Amino acid sequence: MRIFLDTANLDEIAEAAGWGVIAGVTTNPSLVAKEKGRSFPDLIAGITALVSGPVSAEVMALERDGMIREARELHRIAPNVVIKLPMTAEGLRAGRVLSIEGIPTNMTLVFSVGQGLLAALSGATYVSPFVGRLDDVGHAGMEVVADLVRIFQVHRLPTQVIAASIRHPQHVVEAARAGAHIATVPFGVLRQLVQHPLTDLGIARFLADSKHAQPK
Ligand code: G3P
Repeated sequence: MRIFLDTANLDEIAEAAGWGVIAGVTTNPSLVAKEKGRSFPDLIAGITALVSGPVSAEVMALERDGMIREARELHRIAPNVVIKLPMTAEGLRAGRVLSIEGIPTNMTLVFSVGQGLLAALSGATYVSPFVGRLDDVGHAGMEVVADLVRIFQVHRLPTQVIAASIRHPQHVVEAARAGAHIATVPFGVLRQLVQHPLTDLGIARFLADSKHAQPK
């Protein structure tokens, strides 16, 4: 499984890229709105300058032609820009055209196995089931991830599953166990994954012990 960073913050992306663990970035309009002072295209250009892997940027139009227009403009910024489309009939229609044009897509706001299957059949490169938001309303979000992974394998569909709306480190581990191709992770969760209190305690003990070591 690969890890993408779910943020539009350039400092977080630069930091995580330095750790060598992220293979791409996903953004959404809410994350972009937090980054004041830069236009959306400028922000996406900044992200693609830091990350050579896939960078998802979401369209705002709700009908096919507007989505396609925005998608072409965004993809012109850099070849690794992936177009995030909402899981609607119009999103499917736009995705179909973009896949024929060779523009990669990420079908977002997926909350059911059926939606994910349709996204794959329409030619989506990635499909993003929202695990945390499903958990929030009492559904087992990770089951949607596991089912989609299994169905895509059985039917040899090339679409990759991105476990999205990740809320805590255990979600990342469960996504890997479920066979997700990718988990897209907020920076705070990535930092939590790095840390363990026993690691901190171990370092403190080694340091303390080394001070009492006999001189050679
Ligand atoms: O980027 C899509 C998804 O990861 C959003 O997560 O935490 O807003 O449900 P969240």
